[in-house]
Amino acid sequence: MSTSTEHVDDVPRNHGTATGDPHVSRETAPALAWAVGGLPPEIDGHRAALVASVPEADESTPLAAQLAIDARRRIELQGRQFPRPERTRIITVANQKGGVGKTTTTVNLAAGLAQSGLRVLVIDNDPQGNASTALGIEHRAGTPSIYEVLVEDEPLRNTIQECPSVPGLYGVPATIDLSGAEIELVSLVSRETRLRRALDAYLLEREERGEEQIDYVFVDCPPSLGLLTVNAFVVGREVLIPIQCEYYALEGLSQLLKTIELIKAHLNPELRVSTILLTMYDGRTNLAQQVAAEVREHFPDQTLRTTVPRSVRISEAPSHAQTVMTYDPGSTGSLAYLEAARELAERAPRPADLR
Ligand SMILES: Nc1ncnc2c1ncn2[C@@H]1O[C@H](COP(=O)(O)OP(=O)(O)OP(=O)(O)O)[C@@H](O)[C@H]1O
Ligand SMILES: [Mg+2]
Repeated sequence: MSTSTEHVDDVPRNHGTATGDPHVSRETAPALAWAVGGLPPEIDGHRAALVASVPEADESTPLAAQLAIDARRRIELQGRQFPRPERTRIITVANQKGGVGKTTTTVNLAAGLAQSGLRVLVIDNDPQGNASTALGIEHRAGTPSIYEVLVEDEPLRNTIQECPSVPGLYGVPATIDLSGAEIELVSLVSRETRLRRALDAYLLEREERGEEQIDYVFVDCPPSLGLLTVNAFVVGREVLIPIQCEYYALEGLSQLLKTIELIKAHLNPELRVSTILLTMYDGRTNLAQQVAAEVREHFPDQTLRTTVPRSVRISEAPSHAQTVMTYDPGSTGSLAYLEAARELAERAPRPADLR
């Protein structure tokens, strides 16, 4: 795979519209009906044979080992359709610690799922607007954004933009206005539930209009536990916590879990931490291995098997207004996020996760 266009275009899509408009319904092409349930057995069998043909690399040659992992992931994942959830999964990506990979994880998982045939909406709920930048959507002051939704009761539908490089991926931008929202929200009625009301109304309206289901909604949070994050916890049914594999990684985690428990007790009984993703992992260091082992010990069911390595390509992508999934689809970082997206999609959500 050499270009993003090639990657997106050679994937048979199981839904979507010619215009890319998320509001317009379209019948699923019967010829692609198999895609909803995954690939036909003969294709999966072919993939398995190819994966088996990749030679095992000696652990003493880490570069060769990484190349072998990448080759297997490429064969396994490219062009694969991920299972569509029965109902919309709403996932809040949070960690009050700054710079741990919340935004990077949000946009890349979202892009990976969209590239694999699903319809995905990212809500940028952070005044920094980093997710809007990575998605390549307009977020200059004055653009209809999450601020208007939260503070001025603007319908969510009016703020949604299509991500230019990934069909099936949509975003609600955050503009600089959002930096005042924490204070403005304090005096508003139902200040904690405004995002939930807006999203629930939008999803219900889609259903009533016969529009196709949004499969995943991701909410990117700022690095704090203020009202913006509280709104994100009230709208989310699942929380995804990215954890950076560094010394201070686990500090502050108990505070985060306590906040989630409080929200669960008072505002959103469905909320649960469903997923933990280890980010910026450098397997060559003992420290990263120790942090990963500790996280897995505490959260054996939630922690994804896939870890995201430190990767220059991942950090470069936003400066090109892209996710790494289109900026360099064949890179180690991109393949790791695609693998993580597959894991997320293949874990069957319990009824409590469903809208
Ligand atoms: N796997 C990775 N490899 C290399 N750089 C990474 C990786 N993941 C994230 N980064 C870089 O680390 C920085 C922080 O990442 P990111 O913005 O995703 O964190 P965040 O938790 O959203 O930060 P904030 O708390 O400010 O919102 C960014 O410059 C990003 O490009
Ligand atoms: Mg961020």
